[in-house]
Amino acid sequence: MKILVTGASGHLGANLVRRLLDDGQSVRVLLREGSNNTAVESLDVERVYGDLRDFTGMKAAVRGCDRIYHCAAKVSTLDGDTLLKREIYDCNVLGTLHILQAALEAGVSKVVVSGSFSAVGHNPEKPSDETVPFYPFSPHLPYGFTKTFVEHECLKAFANGLNVVVAVSCAIIGPMITNLPAWGEHF
Ligand SMILES: NC(=O)c1ccc[n+]([C@@H]2O[C@H](COP(=O)([O-])OP(=O)(O)OC[C@H]3O[C@@H](n4cnc5c(N)ncnc54)[C@H](OP(=O)(O)O)[C@@H]3O)[C@@H](O)[C@H]2O)c1
Repeated sequence: MKILVTGASGHLGANLVRRLLDDGQSVRVLLREGSNNTAVESLDVERVYGDLRDFTGMKAAVRGCDRIYHCAAKVSTLDGDTLLKREIYDCNVLGTLHILQAALEAGVSKVVVSGSFSAVGHNPEKPSDETVPFYPFSPHLPYGFTKTFVEHECLKAFANGLNVVVAVSCAIIGPMITNLPAWGEHF
């Protein structure tokens, strides 16, 4: 059974791939040509190259895999210009849609999508969790909006028969922070 990990060169993905290998799993990683892929360079994994925005490429990346951990996303703490907003939307929302559609077509048994606390609402009366709905009329960054729409795409895919769950996290702490520019944009 082969497991696809997207975003394997990133913080979450690089740690997850190591955990899966430690568990004896057979892993395929989705990488992008020209990116900093040092996080996986010494690992015994199958490498495929492609961009989330390319549906044909994602179908090829998913083909032959039984499970998917979709960790890839354009993480951004900026409001950004029109171009950046388009990149964040296309990578996160359309990219996730491509992975989910490819998984449905390929008969993948389970997909885990990385969600974000930025898609969770806030209730001053109690600590927030996934039960608090996202309130769209308070200020949000483009990234937060897209992570909310990512969840909508997952719900739609589930309704269409895909076994997909969203794993929501807040700040992820740990080794293998490979993509500091994403978090250091303001500095
Ligand atoms: N880090 C946190 O504290 C945190 C908190 C909550 C939720 N999350 C979520 O957890 C997931 C992983 O976050 P992370 O911190 O590991 O992010 P990260 O370190 O910035 O890594 C992002 C990964 O996504 C890949 N990626 C981005 N755009 C892509 C595209 N168009 N096509 C293919 N790959 C693409 C990147 O590859 P390149 O190197 O080629 O760009 C990289 O491997 C994301 O879904 C994020 O929203 C993270």
